[in-house]
Amino acid sequence: MKLVLIGAPGSGKGTQGERLARRSGAHHIATGDLLRAEVQARSALGNQVAGYLESGTLVPDQLLLDLTMPLIEAARDTGYILDGFPRSVGQAVRLDELSGTGSAVESVLYIDVPRAELVARLMRRAAEQDRVDDNEDVIVNRLRVFDSETIPLIDYYRRRSLLQVIDGGLGVAEVGALLAAAIGQ
Ligand code: AP5
Repeated sequence: MKLVLIGAPGSGKGTQGERLARRSGAHHIATGDLLRAEVQARSALGNQVAGYLESGTLVPDQLLLDLTMPLIEAARDTGYILDGFPRSVGQAVRLDELSGTGSAVESVLYIDVPRAELVARLMRRAAEQDRVDDNEDVIVNRLRVFDSETIPLIDYYRRRSLLQVIDGGLGVAEVGALLAAAIGQ
């Protein structure tokens, strides 16, 4: 399985990526988690990207590619679920180029959630957890970045006939069942 999960902030990419990975044995590669781990470890990369995460702006492509391509290569045999990458057409093009054959992506699921529900979920998480980008101003920016950078990616994969749209506004188990069915799991 070489799967990409696309979705706005709060759409459930992380929640469903983990579930699908457990179910399928594919490797869950979540760029937000990887970047947050670098920030927490105060690594050189972490120091470079901290400001981007805090403001909800995209980290420069080359940093992302350096971080993710080795993991994608390593998971070629087991399969992978890419959660949060690519998130722009530019990143998708580079992913295809770097993987050589153009077959780095077999299937793309867009988890579509109404905007009000996204904001409600993120504000709920803000009250429960301490994520630096879960506050009102940054949530607005993350959604703006999604609209400008990631919405065009949905069309990019639709034109390649790789895209399926999933109703992500349901409960976790229901969305999970829809995603699994979409990829025949
Ligand atoms: P990232 O960590 O990917 O953040 P995000 O896209 O904003 O998404 P979230 O993690 O907030 O939401 P999610 O869709 O994973 O939903 P989740 O399952 O957590 O990226 C963070 C930052 O890193 C970016 O802003 C950027 O700076 C940088 N970055 C990452 N990738 C990059 C890239 N490729 N290029 C450049 N920069 C990059 O669920 C959210 C909440 O809702 C949880 O509390 C969950 O319990 C709840 N929930 C989930 N599903 C449901 C449901 N069905 N019903 C009710 N509640 C639900």
